[in-house]
Amino acid sequence: DATAVIFDLDGVLVDTAVFHYQAWKRLAKQFDFDFTEAENEQLKGVSRVDSLNLILKWANKEVPAEEKEQLAALKNTWYLELVENMQDGDVLPGTIDLLTYLKATDKKIALGSASKNAVRILEKTGILRYFDAIIDGNAVKNSKPDPEVFLKAATSVGVEPAACVVLEDAQAGIEAAKAAKMQVIAVDKSHVLTNYDARVDDLSEILISE
Ligand code: BG6
Ligand code: MG
Repeated sequence: DATAVIFDLDGVLVDTAVFHYQAWKRLAKQFDFDFTEAENEQLKGVSRVDSLNLILKWANKEVPAEEKEQLAALKNTWYLELVENMQDGDVLPGTIDLLTYLKATDKKIALGSASKNAVRILEKTGILRYFDAIIDGNAVKNSKPDPEVFLKAATSVGVEPAACVVLEDAQAGIEAAKAAKMQVIAVDKSHVLTNYDARVDDLSEILISE
């Protein structure tokens, strides 16, 4: 039977959390808020607009809707400047071996990410060609922990949810995968996540423990 692996992007395939952190920190400075790494942790898997709303809340700052759009756009410009420096092969450990193995064994490969920059990042790092389907922040109405992104990914590759394995580094993503009735492997070196079916430090551990 057909099986599929659905990958989250940021923190699973690519090490972009640090770019998100730098860009949000630079934005927060504009309104004198010292955005911390611990706060950044809480934004993993959270959409751009929801992330901004949380930062504004933590900073006790109220801004009109138009200004919010400008702030989110500014953060994204700075984020993309950092993404533009990424090179072919700038992926997390085990990524290429796992994608190659899944292709060779005829598994479907899908992306299920909250990011609206997903295609650009896959292109920059040279792994776009492995994907049979890409469901990203442009394709969904409801953010994780809603299961929409993973259910759409399963439909796109024609695989039943029960035959899909999700790889996630964010709690919101794990809840989304569970809500979609899929198996989920947490990519969680620091042992901070819960409610998964299996846990690895990084993707290089998956083939070993297949
Ligand atoms: C998620 C990241 O994958 O994508 C979040 O973990 C990020 O930190 C979200 O906010 C949206 O990304 P983007 O690229 O659309 O701003
Ligand atoms: Mg992630």
